[in-house]
Amino acid sequence: MQEYRSFSLGDQGELKIGGVSALMLAKKYGTPLYIMDEDQIRWNCLQYMEAMSRNFGRKFQVSYASKALCVKAIYPIIQQEGLCADVVSGGELYTALQAGFPPELLHFHGNNKSRQEIQYALESGVGLFIADSMEELETLEELAALCGKIPRVSLRIKPGVDAHTHEFISTGNIDSKFGFCYETGEAMEAVKLASRLPHLNFCGVHCHIGSQVFLQEPYALAAEVMTRFMMEIGRETGKVPEELNMGGGFGIAYGPEDKPLPIGQMIDGLGQAVKAGCQKYGLELPTVIVEPGRSIVGPAGVTAYTVGGVKKIPGGRVYAAVDGGMPDNPRYALYGAAYQAVKAEDPAGERTMTVAIAGKCCESGDLIAKEAQVQPLKAGDILCVFATGAYNYSMASNYNRLPRPAMVMTWQGQDRLAVRRETYEQLAQNDL
Ligand code: LLP
Repeated sequence: MQEYRSFSLGDQGELKIGGVSALMLAKKYGTPLYIMDEDQIRWNCLQYMEAMSRNFGRKFQVSYASKALCVKAIYPIIQQEGLCADVVSGGELYTALQAGFPPELLHFHGNNKSRQEIQYALESGVGLFIADSMEELETLEELAALCGKIPRVSLRIKPGVDAHTHEFISTGNIDSKFGFCYETGEAMEAVKLASRLPHLNFCGVHCHIGSQVFLQEPYALAAEVMTRFMMEIGRETGKVPEELNMGGGFGIAYGPEDKPLPIGQMIDGLGQAVKAGCQKYGLELPTVIVEPGRSIVGPAGVTAYTVGGVKKIPGGRVYAAVDGGMPDNPRYALYGAAYQAVKAEDPAGERTMTVAIAGKCCESGDLIAKEAQVQPLKAGDILCVFATGAYNYSMASNYNRLPRPAMVMTWQGQDRLAVRRETYEQLAQNDL
């Protein structure tokens, strides 16, 4: 069983999440079911807030990356914990606003924001735009002028750093669709444009080197490049930007081979690197922002499935088929991600079975894990898959017309529905 504060054993040895029996939740809400432990989410937020304040005093922000899990129920939690949030689309913006999240605490990201999205964000009073292209700066200027606003604007920079993670989620190197390139001079061109445009308040620089990163070194390298760039901006324009956003990407444990450093340690390393850069380049310490997503919600999530059957292929694998699959968790199909699972009835029992956890879609690649060590399984068992809180619900699809699962939140022995299960009617509601 993974060692997070959320998990404990009940009187019968069954799995409890946030003090609530997973078996009971599966019965009450049905499966597949996303279970999020609010206590764990809050604890993760607190780790960031404490570490950032330890390193940067009052000059910091922790901005939750909504893309990891964007449902209304997340926003009151992160607001109460003192975080801001980033959104990357009109849809995420809408969800955050619907949840009552203050627009001034929202940062608007995205590499190809549409005019409508920019307009919507301007009208809503979003606190910060992180611009990704020259065209976006021009459009933002035009629309800001039309509605008489001067939005705060930061620029996404590619610092040219290798994050040592999966190619699909590595974003800081030059050959990436995101942001302005430092090395080619494009980033400085963008700074000059942003500083010149009268309806933009150019206030910061941003980088995000990638996701599921375990090493401190890439962040330190990025901090060095970014502080150097800030010094150069001061030299070129006469004004050093006041904000430095170092992005997110801090890795979590999916399996025993993943060894993330504690959040506090990652942030301490980042703090040292930023301060060293500022000292080297003669800068005042800027307001430092980080944008964690996965590490806030990922470990707080468990998906409960019902096992439909166990197939033993002579001389081959054992397949345990579950009632969900790639539509609720596409991460094996996309990245070959491996998940750990337990039988909810006996999570501490001996793991004598090696199974491929197979979904119910018409694809051989529809797996949750290829080789999971689990307690002996049979049809009807509830199987709980760990660390599914990030990039599962937010990347879920209706492939094979499977309705998206419900989501419940647990909190110190209590449970509440956060997202209803989709219905067949909803699946077909836009079809004409
Ligand atoms: N900031 C920016 C600008 C980002 O692009 C991202 C993630 C984050 C922050 C948050 O990164 P995190 O702390 O969650 O690692 N679908 C992939 C992950 C894609 C991440 C994209 N950007 C996955 O399932 O692994």
